[in-house]
Amino acid sequence: MCGIVGYVGFRKATDVLLDGLRRLEYRGYDSAGVAVRTPEGLRVVKRSGKLSALEEALKGVELSGNLGIGHTRWATHGAPTDPNAHPHATEDGRITLIHNGIFENYLELKEALKARGHGFRSETDSEVLAHLVEEKYRGDLFLAVREALEEVRGAYAVAVIHAGHEEIVAARTVSPLVIGLGEGENFLASDVPALLPYTRRVIFLHDGDVARITREGVEITDLQGRPVAREAVEVDWTLEAAEKGGFPHYMLKEIHEQPWVLESTLGGRLLEEEGDVALDLALDPKEVERVQVIACGTASYAGLYGKYLLEALARIPTEWDVASEYRYRDPLVDGKTLALAISQSGETIDTLEALREARRKGARTLGVVNAKGSSLTREVEEVLYIHAGPEIGVASTKAYLAMLAAMALLAVRFGRARGVLDREASRGLIREMRKLPRLVEEVLEKRPLIAHVAEKYHQAQDFLFLGRHVQTPTAYEGALKLKEISYIHAEAYPAGEMKHGPIALIDEHLPVVVLATQGPLYEKTLSNIQEVRARGGKVIAIATEGDEEIRKLAQEVIYVPQVHPLLAPIVSVVPLQLLAYEIAVLLGRDVDQPRNLAKSVTVE
Ligand code: F6R
Repeated sequence: MCGIVGYVGFRKATDVLLDGLRRLEYRGYDSAGVAVRTPEGLRVVKRSGKLSALEEALKGVELSGNLGIGHTRWATHGAPTDPNAHPHATEDGRITLIHNGIFENYLELKEALKARGHGFRSETDSEVLAHLVEEKYRGDLFLAVREALEEVRGAYAVAVIHAGHEEIVAARTVSPLVIGLGEGENFLASDVPALLPYTRRVIFLHDGDVARITREGVEITDLQGRPVAREAVEVDWTLEAAEKGGFPHYMLKEIHEQPWVLESTLGGRLLEEEGDVALDLALDPKEVERVQVIACGTASYAGLYGKYLLEALARIPTEWDVASEYRYRDPLVDGKTLALAISQSGETIDTLEALREARRKGARTLGVVNAKGSSLTREVEEVLYIHAGPEIGVASTKAYLAMLAAMALLAVRFGRARGVLDREASRGLIREMRKLPRLVEEVLEKRPLIAHVAEKYHQAQDFLFLGRHVQTPTAYEGALKLKEISYIHAEAYPAGEMKHGPIALIDEHLPVVVLATQGPLYEKTLSNIQEVRARGGKVIAIATEGDEEIRKLAQEVIYVPQVHPLLAPIVSVVPLQLLAYEIAVLLGRDVDQPRNLAKSVTVE
């Protein structure tokens, strides 16, 4: 997740760019840079570290020009170094660009470009586009960018400039991009806050849009060059509302960011041809005989999903308990044990202490973390970043989805390395993983239906959540989301366990949310639904698109798209997040800062 700004007009571009980057600071960054079109050609200044490092570098540098682009980076491909910082330029320096997102096929493109004589200065996926644009360029930058984009696969928001043109060419797919309209000047940004000091008239670009922005106006086409009409809208947001992307709460914004969060977790790591994933880990999965998951709360449920996957796909015995229990149970650990610590913040003290305990006992360690440079990342041997971007809502949503995706990546890698997952099976899974961002987008469209379900059940005193196998953690997470932001009591159980006690709770006042997606245990789950029905309970089923049978059994059905059963939790948890959100709003709760909770729990 990166911040993008662009300017063309009459002001000093550097001032507008730095101001915009400052306003996107909440997106997080580990390097920053600007490119300005000066009378001497394009000038690029970029630095690793915070924006202040770039500001320092710009002191005493005269960058006079009224057109430029700026970027703050949240590193995915390549460490946060000066060369990897954006903008990226071609060797002759006449074309430069900034990019947010991931070009999944950049490795093959890079190899081909190298073979054709292009030299690379960074390890980023972004740089390939600069070279592709250079190859396509025959005097029309707008056309060259479109042709170059035809060759990349993945998610992106890009802005490209050329020394010979007074224009910015911008394009997006999945990653956000918005144009700000002025008088004799125009702006570009990945998020509205960067535009607010200058204009409130904006055009939100859609997937597949390519725009040419000059000081006089904006022209938008699709990738094939066909004109598309996009309406300019007037945003009346305060700065705070703008940081929420126009959503009333950070939590809702973060729920809606999930498609491109999945792109950034998965994109570029999926090797479909090889039936494998690229994780860049030195750890040899063959040396691991046992995995112990260490995490708390939502992260621990992602870990429980990881346990199911590691056992199913990689056949590695995996233990799971919450970090605060792990620490004190005197776990059995040896040098072939891998402690898998999962954390959004990387600062949760229970997780850190449990990890230290595992390390003291001789375990190998791997962190699955969102926050760069956090304590956990410094204490593990290796880190697998989930690339979810900053999560501000206290209730974790997008980090959970990214953690689930990271678990799937790990399980496939381990399964392949240990020779227990064959190439064809793995390819099938990878193909399904590729679809996930789009499928999650489809689920988000169900929000009106979910709001309707919330309306019907928000007065309930208690909720029960049930799921089996990989959907057990989904049930736990659904119940946790509901209780923490709505304060309604919610419990979750593996569906088969219900008859051993919780069934006594069921009456006509108890809504029971059942994860009943297609998979080997579908029939068994239907039996559990029958048991709930027989006792008057109200069933809210999360089911697979096309399942008509379930309509006869459940009062409410929320459909999610068909996907491989092992990946179903990634699409199924989204309606549960929305259900919790809608109920909390109806009850007037403080969604982003629920009572008694903190974003990062640094006490035991
Ligand atoms: C729930 C939630 C918490 C965290 C837990 C661990 O919505 O956010 O349960 O998941 O406190 O936090 P991290 O992942 O930062 O270690």
